[in-house]
Amino acid sequence: MATVDVHAEIERLRRERNAVILAHYYQDGEIQDLADFIGDSLQLAKAARDTKADVIAFCGVHFMAETAKIFNPDKIVVLPDLSAGCSLADGCPAPDLKRWKDAHPDHLVVSYINCTADTKALSDIICTSSNAKRVVESLPKDRPVLFAPDRNLGAWLIKQTGRKMDLWPGSCIVHETFSERKLADLVARHPDAKVLAHPECEPPVLALSHHIASTSGLLDYAAKHTEVMRFIVATEPGIIHQMRKARPDAEFIPLPGQDDSCNCNECPFMRKNTLDKLAACLRDLQPRIEMPEATRLAALKPLERMMALG
Ligand code: 13P
Ligand code: SF4
Repeated sequence: MATVDVHAEIERLRRERNAVILAHYYQDGEIQDLADFIGDSLQLAKAARDTKADVIAFCGVHFMAETAKIFNPDKIVVLPDLSAGCSLADGCPAPDLKRWKDAHPDHLVVSYINCTADTKALSDIICTSSNAKRVVESLPKDRPVLFAPDRNLGAWLIKQTGRKMDLWPGSCIVHETFSERKLADLVARHPDAKVLAHPECEPPVLALSHHIASTSGLLDYAAKHTEVMRFIVATEPGIIHQMRKARPDAEFIPLPGQDDSCNCNECPFMRKNTLDKLAACLRDLQPRIEMPEATRLAALKPLERMMALG
């Protein structure tokens, strides 16, 4: 399909299917530009829950589309590339989490939304990076806590809340690649720059950062701080597309990975989605997200507890 046709084809299919296109900030700019809604994980989960469309085309990764399906059993949810996974979700299979949970029967299980529906189904409550602090603060004080699967987000939350938690040893292959040394060099070269970091980064990178937040939180900070003319961005560089729109006057420097020979700061899973695959999934209504109803109902409970916190 020629690129010049693909936009028209997506437009036609979106109307014909009564579809909504949801896109995460880490998608390629050309996908973000034609989405009906762009957001972080929590904003996308809410948009999916509230949509009146018949079809949700989810331009993001598998756990995000799965969350959309958990809220919408009667809608068709398609993901342009079904193999768009996530290292955090892959690193915490439900049977392993179950063993950990069974070994700690008195603990509450808080799971980051970057996990599978089966893992969610074993959890007491879900959080995203934008509401994690509020979720942890909402937990009864007398219960010990297991936090899965991101150890970096978990360690940052322990510092933020003072709440002791046992952490699952998972991490994001993108955020763990950021180099503290390269960040220190950039900071030394640009002392006027503010460092924006996602809490999935390793602690030494977070220690050098001025603002730590979800993707939407980092975008808001750049948009509001109009006195800052330069930002170093320690998260997936897809977000810079919206940052540049919000602040065309500012410079955004993506933090590179440790290895100069690869684009390791780009999420290889997010990049699997393309405009051609988006057009194809709207046309074929495949690949679809499906799951057993018992799993969906069990995963819905901790998601609803999170949503109830506002
Ligand atoms: P956000 O919820 O901050 O958008 O994070 C999603 C994600 O996968 C970060 O790597
Ligand atoms: Fe998962 Fe990391 Fe990609 Fe986010 S950036 S989807 S946490 S692998």
